[in-house]
Amino acid sequence: MKIILDGFMGSGKTTIGQLLATELQLSFWDLDHLISATAQKSISAIFQDSGEKYFRSLETKALKEVLPKNGVLALGGGTSSLQENRQLLQKDSASVILLEAQNTTLWQRINATATRPLAKSQAQITALKRQRQAYYEQMADLIITTDHCFPKQVVQQIKNTL
Ligand code: S3P
Repeated sequence: MKIILDGFMGSGKTTIGQLLATELQLSFWDLDHLISATAQKSISAIFQDSGEKYFRSLETKALKEVLPKNGVLALGGGTSSLQENRQLLQKDSASVILLEAQNTTLWQRINATATRPLAKSQAQITALKRQRQAYYEQMADLIITTDHCFPKQVVQQIKNTL
């Protein structure tokens, strides 16, 4: 079985994905983690040293490598904004679940970690999310809102749809 989690930074892809994979006894794959492990650098360092375009090339490469594997896969928040990545995802038979949250919720979560080079303010989040929203929705088989929910509740909602 393969389940793909999509959504903006701070929507809960990694937290929910880990929990869901544990409960379903599946492997968990996190695209950012795979990129970072291969490059042996943090995502922020990749952006800083080589820029977004290079990061995106690593992201597509990692996506191609991980897509054939079973398990729960958490995409990066910008993965589905690239046409090549959307095509790869559409060719795959896995369900794509979009995790949604309001911009204020996203900002609270993102600001708490301060590890996202493309989300330095709530205004930046609002602008970027507006640009990407149509792509997220285009790719989604199911949309789940995560504001005011405990991760376990979101996982239960996903499990109820399987
Ligand atoms: C990005 C999202 C991040 C990471 C990188 C770029 C984006 O992943 O891939 O900082 O463009 O939205 P998360 O959504 O896991 O934070």
